[in-house]
Amino acid sequence: MTTYITTPIYYVNAQPHLGHAYTTIVADTYARFKRLTGDSVRFQTGTDEHGDKIAEAAASEGVSPKEYVDRISGMFRETWPQLDVEPDNFIRTTDPEHVTTVQNILQQVYDKGDIYFDKYTGLYCTGCERFLTEKELVDGKCPDHQTVPEEITEENYFFKMSRYQKELIDHIKTNSDFITPQRYRNEVLSFLSEPLEDLCISRPTSRLTWGIPLPFDKNFVTYVWFDALINYLTGIGYPHGDNFQKYWGAAEHVIAKDILKPHAIYWPTMILSIGLPLYQKLHVHGYWNVDETKMSKSIGNVIRPAELIDEYGVDSVRYFILREMSFGLDASFSSDAIVTRMNSDLANDIGNLYSRTTAMLVKYCDGVVPEAVAVDDDTVLCDLAATVLQSYRENMGSFQFHRALQAVWELISQANKYIVENEPWALVKDPARQGRLGTVLYNLAETLRLLTLLLQPVMPATCTKMARGLGLDQDSPLVTNLADNGNWGGLVAGTRLEKVEALFPRVAVKNKEQPVNRDKNHKKSSKAGKKQKVTLAEGVIGFDQFQKVQLRVAEIVAAEPVKKSDRLLKLTVKAPEERTIVAGIAKFYRPEELVGMQVLIVANLQPIKLMGVGSQGMVLAAKVEGDEGTRLVLSTVSGSVPPGTPVA
Ligand code: MSP
Repeated sequence: MTTYITTPIYYVNAQPHLGHAYTTIVADTYARFKRLTGDSVRFQTGTDEHGDKIAEAAASEGVSPKEYVDRISGMFRETWPQLDVEPDNFIRTTDPEHVTTVQNILQQVYDKGDIYFDKYTGLYCTGCERFLTEKELVDGKCPDHQTVPEEITEENYFFKMSRYQKELIDHIKTNSDFITPQRYRNEVLSFLSEPLEDLCISRPTSRLTWGIPLPFDKNFVTYVWFDALINYLTGIGYPHGDNFQKYWGAAEHVIAKDILKPHAIYWPTMILSIGLPLYQKLHVHGYWNVDETKMSKSIGNVIRPAELIDEYGVDSVRYFILREMSFGLDASFSSDAIVTRMNSDLANDIGNLYSRTTAMLVKYCDGVVPEAVAVDDDTVLCDLAATVLQSYRENMGSFQFHRALQAVWELISQANKYIVENEPWALVKDPARQGRLGTVLYNLAETLRLLTLLLQPVMPATCTKMARGLGLDQDSPLVTNLADNGNWGGLVAGTRLEKVEALFPRVAVKNKEQPVNRDKNHKKSSKAGKKQKVTLAEGVIGFDQFQKVQLRVAEIVAAEPVKKSDRLLKLTVKAPEERTIVAGIAKFYRPEELVGMQVLIVANLQPIKLMGVGSQGMVLAAKVEGDEGTRLVLSTVSGSVPPGTPVA
């Protein structure tokens, strides 16, 4: 099977931002997914460098258009590797091959009689680089650019788009996934229910020279959209190249809703006129806003990919944007949202599963993957993996990345639960249950292997690390070939793990709560004490004092020893916000058995530092005095409740 996936070619009148990054990461993820399934894949992106907007941007910087486009196009090209995006081809509309292809196609369409010369008066929006119809205006303005379009009368060349209207409608109606999600297909069909006007495809050189000259009239240059859309053909060597033969039949385009009309109407009618089969699919996504506000230069909230990577790391960014946006709908970026996902989904869920599993394999099995006992009928993870895999394949294949990731995270949660339920730390102490220990740890290791395979398209760098940690080469078919190794049981007993650092560092979240001061002599608390009419016996506190103490249920999501201390453990808990608590329980609990446990905490103690680690609260434990000294037993709740539930 073959896959040809493209992004829009981006205008070079602005530098790359989150919106461009999203589309391009989506295309990269899809390309990587298709490679996992064994397809021959070609992935193309690039820059759109002709037209009014670019000429204006160059003029405003006082440089020639060529100098200007070289510089900004370079910025796009350099951005992609930073995001681990690996296109097979980066096309520029100023490439000589592209200019030739556009001119050849224009001549062909002209010779066929699909281009004619006419006078036209219309409302032209420079922002959209096209004439707008009266219907499209809102309060007389372009809805996208909030500017009043200029009335222009010109003699120009027109493409007979209307000739292909019926054929296009029939195609869309008989191919339900030609344009997805369905809302965009409906939008296009509704637009096509009215007669199509022909498309003005030239600009007089008296007005604009920065474009591709029409081969049949040197007084005109090509309209930027007619030029730009053809990149999808130039990039695979149309009409002669092998790549054209191989890939055109598999073409899929990814765009956002802003350029639906050129891709769903202009482009297919052009393709029909050229006499080629239509592209396979158009995948249309929504817009990224920032803190619920439209991203714009004038508001000053434009997010640059380089800043995101510096702050959060490539894989966190890739994961976040794919997980957060439902493909087709708008989404909002905020630093709170990404930090929350980094801490819960990445550091806690997958990060913990990885570190606990590998730590136990090292400790209990000398770092070697054990044998699963054949008679063991424990198929919990294996069964779930099969269901998850099916959902993953379907959803990745249909651009529902958030759903695919949700499915993968079900497997991660189940595996974390599996650790708590099977208590490997207890199994290891029982010589009669060493076989069972092997099975449990094999199942966990194999789950990690499958996760490495499935997350490859989304977080390639993390998966390389995970593969290494499992003692596998990053190119091993076990983690790169979904077609052959998507089934349970690929990891071979005897594989020796390699030590790698934690997958995702935890990100600090600010604790917004007002703390109660630990200091006994603190003014506020002593004042409150004086209000009591009854003199209290020593050690007795009043109800209003007790009421100040906030007790809550907290879930332990991570636990690790505090350096140079044999008494302290650093716990990360959800209560419901995430915080660190240092607890003196290292002698009584192993870190791996704490994760998942629900404990009681004092939530509003003033933060303090213990052995250099900040602690925001205190965990409650029963203090049991025995022959061997004092033992601490953590207090828990008798049933599962949401983290953060107050204790009354
Ligand atoms: N040059 C044309 C496309 C020609 S394709 C033959 C163009 N360029 S653009 O630079 O304006 O890019 C538009 C595309 O950038 C959108 O369709 C989308 O892929 C991406 N995005 C730009 N802003 C975006 C958001 N705020 N959110 C999501 N994606 C957005 O149009």
